[in-house]
Amino acid sequence: MNKYIIKNANQIITFKGDEAKKGSEMNDLKIFFDSIILIEDDLIKYIGPKDEAKRKFNLDEYEIIDAKDKVIMPGFVDSHTHLVFGGYRQEEFNMRLAGASYMEIMEAGGGIASTVKATKEATEDELVNKAKKVLDQMLAFGVTTVEAKSGYGLFNDVEEKQLKAVKRLNNEHPIDIISTYMAAHAVPNEYKDNPEEFIDYIIEKGLPMVKSNSYAEFVDIFTEKNVFEIKESEKLLNAAKEQGFKLKIHADEIVQLGGAELAAKVGAISADHLLNASEDGIRKMAKHGVICTLLPMTAFSLKEDYANARFMIDQNASVALASDFNPGSCFSNSIPLLFALAGIYMGMSVEESICALTINGAAAIDKAKEIGTLEAGKKADIIFLDAPDYKFLNYNFGVNLVQRVIKSGKTVYQRNLRV
Ligand code: NIG
Ligand code: FE
Repeated sequence: MNKYIIKNANQIITFKGDEAKKGSEMNDLKIFFDSIILIEDDLIKYIGPKDEAKRKFNLDEYEIIDAKDKVIMPGFVDSHTHLVFGGYRQEEFNMRLAGASYMEIMEAGGGIASTVKATKEATEDELVNKAKKVLDQMLAFGVTTVEAKSGYGLFNDVEEKQLKAVKRLNNEHPIDIISTYMAAHAVPNEYKDNPEEFIDYIIEKGLPMVKSNSYAEFVDIFTEKNVFEIKESEKLLNAAKEQGFKLKIHADEIVQLGGAELAAKVGAISADHLLNASEDGIRKMAKHGVICTLLPMTAFSLKEDYANARFMIDQNASVALASDFNPGSCFSNSIPLLFALAGIYMGMSVEESICALTINGAAAIDKAKEIGTLEAGKKADIIFLDAPDYKFLNYNFGVNLVQRVIKSGKTVYQRNLRV
């Protein structure tokens, strides 16, 4: 058995519990001083005062990991990404800077459709190798669990290639990956006059293919004007629920369509984006415990107004933060940028942002019983910040403070020393 003791940390910080924090609970960060963590194999055995540990355990059995001058916290959970795709869209990004809108580019045949073409042309190995590099970057930012969506295949053959790539990445890379099936990401040309028929195709052919191979736990849909509207979205989400999937929705990103309300109605685990969600929709989400997953780097990249995080938290909703890493609307997986935008533009306290990226991120992928906090019995997913105080996470904006990452009890990343 591998046994480690993490000692001498400046601070150990964590939320407590195994479900999403709501409203003001998002500020209930616990700070341990003069405390240690014991790891046994992949799990946390103990966290708390050194003196108590000495009475309960034979500490000589544990190999020492010295955390002098470090802040220790749970690994980040990035609960919304489009990790696996072919090609890139740097030309489009520059077209947007010159004034074109995301939807204009999409309607002209670019956008998601161009990534669908590139993903079709890529081999599974190419997809895996490319995504591995991104996972390495994420690990260096302290991300220990990530959600990954399909949706650049649309039809079963290429969707399956993407989902297989995700499965391999989960086995071959230290980061744990939670897989989401999102064939309802764009309406293929063949169905452009009748998106509902494509929804029927997904229900009849897509969901069973994913279920029978255990490719994904979640189903997601791009609910948006001129993509999949409320009626089609409701049909797919209900069918997915019946087939045993958990639900997510890309909701109210570009126009206010009622995506937040739909998320509450169908019992989604999370609704994501919510830049234009109605106040009533937010209240309904809060009431039904649907997590508001906010993606401020996408708003930043699209130069849109940010989601109203303060209103959501004031309504006692649970807020998660995620990157939305994808080749189009948000080609970044930067956790430091996420902290900066959440703090400076959305008015989230540093404690709320930590909550949103740990326990609430874990809850958004239905894993809050296993990860998201540092507590006995949870997975030993632990990161070390090279900082005197956890408040450096937003104060030292834009800077990656992560110095070491322990994933499932093993050190899998340590910052290179200067040579
Ligand atoms: O979450 N809005 C739809 N899907 C992604 C963008 C995907 C893309 O542009 O390739 C999003 O922003
Ligand atoms: Fe997305």
